[in-house]
Amino acid sequence: MLTVRGARVAAMCAGLLALSLTATACGQEAVGGSRYKSHDNKGGTIGIAMPTKSSERWIADGKNMAKQFRQAGYKTDLQYGEDDVRSQVAQLENMIAKGHKLLVIAPINGSALTDVLKRAHDANIPVISYDRLILGTKNVDFYATFDNFKVGVLQAQYIVDRLGLPKGRKGPFNIELFAGSSDDNNTRYFFNGAMSVFKPYLERKELIVRSGQTKMNQLTTDKWSGSAAQDRMEDLLNKAYSNRDVDAVLSPYDGMSIGILSALKGVGYGTKSKPYPIVTGQDAELASVKSILRGQQTQTIYKDTRKLAKATVQMADAELTGGTPEVNDRKSYHNGQRTVPTFLLNPVSIDKSNTQILVDQGYYTASQLK
Ligand code: GAL
Repeated sequence: MLTVRGARVAAMCAGLLALSLTATACGQEAVGGSRYKSHDNKGGTIGIAMPTKSSERWIADGKNMAKQFRQAGYKTDLQYGEDDVRSQVAQLENMIAKGHKLLVIAPINGSALTDVLKRAHDANIPVISYDRLILGTKNVDFYATFDNFKVGVLQAQYIVDRLGLPKGRKGPFNIELFAGSSDDNNTRYFFNGAMSVFKPYLERKELIVRSGQTKMNQLTTDKWSGSAAQDRMEDLLNKAYSNRDVDAVLSPYDGMSIGILSALKGVGYGTKSKPYPIVTGQDAELASVKSILRGQQTQTIYKDTRKLAKATVQMADAELTGGTPEVNDRKSYHNGQRTVPTFLLNPVSIDKSNTQILVDQGYYTASQLK
């Protein structure tokens, strides 16, 4: 429906066009509000700032985006911050100085980009937050991610199902909880999603956290480090499990799961008489999928990075050419300054029974999983 203001703008635009003046503001109104002036950006460069190469998934994210942006007619400048906030800020400053057309950023620290993004805004450069939400600034235009709360729900639901709790087994079962990096906004979504499932079982003491560590700030793992997770698991096993077994471990990320499994192996788990507990994960990284097939890690969450790249490229291309970026969630992700329009994708739970999905969808080849 054309509002009174819309009608006035349309009339004004018609006048401007008749005078053959540039009608960018009019174009913006017509397509639903891009705040950027130029729509003639094909062939320009997209700055892609990824957090680290230490994890396979971010390497895949970067590659997929570079490829898909090229196919859509753009050049790319792909940079990795190696988990160092200052490096990432410097990389972004450089991209702004070079006049890149748009920035796609998976932040290392979600709250550390306010100043640099003010500069991007002043230079008229749109910003897409990738996988992790950038916090505390209005200068983030869109967000592409998987349903992060659901990731936690799927991990926890997997654990309770495998333990038979919904079917009436009462346990009590011993569980330990891990959370991701405290500077990543996703961490609390994953954790809250998982706790929404665990809560009734913890209250009824059908699940027991023997270490007593159940608050998120006791469980976080700086920079999602696998070796930090291993150290904490060793400590937990030492202090709370010298005379009992742990039945399940909530791990939010594959790199951490591998560390947790090493700690478990170190004290004798992984044999017939002392099998590994249920250990979750996330990202369907190759090492973890192989570990699942070997009967070590139990589950992971598959988040197809090609689809995330596709959603991002679609939004970026629309934003840069005067189209309307497609989003499907306008309420869930408030970053402290604004609710960021989001394209949400669906995560999928993978265990030994359905790793074939990864081959069928071409995420891995059958021989990679051997
Ligand atoms: C999160 C991401 C997870 C995992 C983790 C560690 O932000 O959503 O999928 O990759 O970082 O890299």
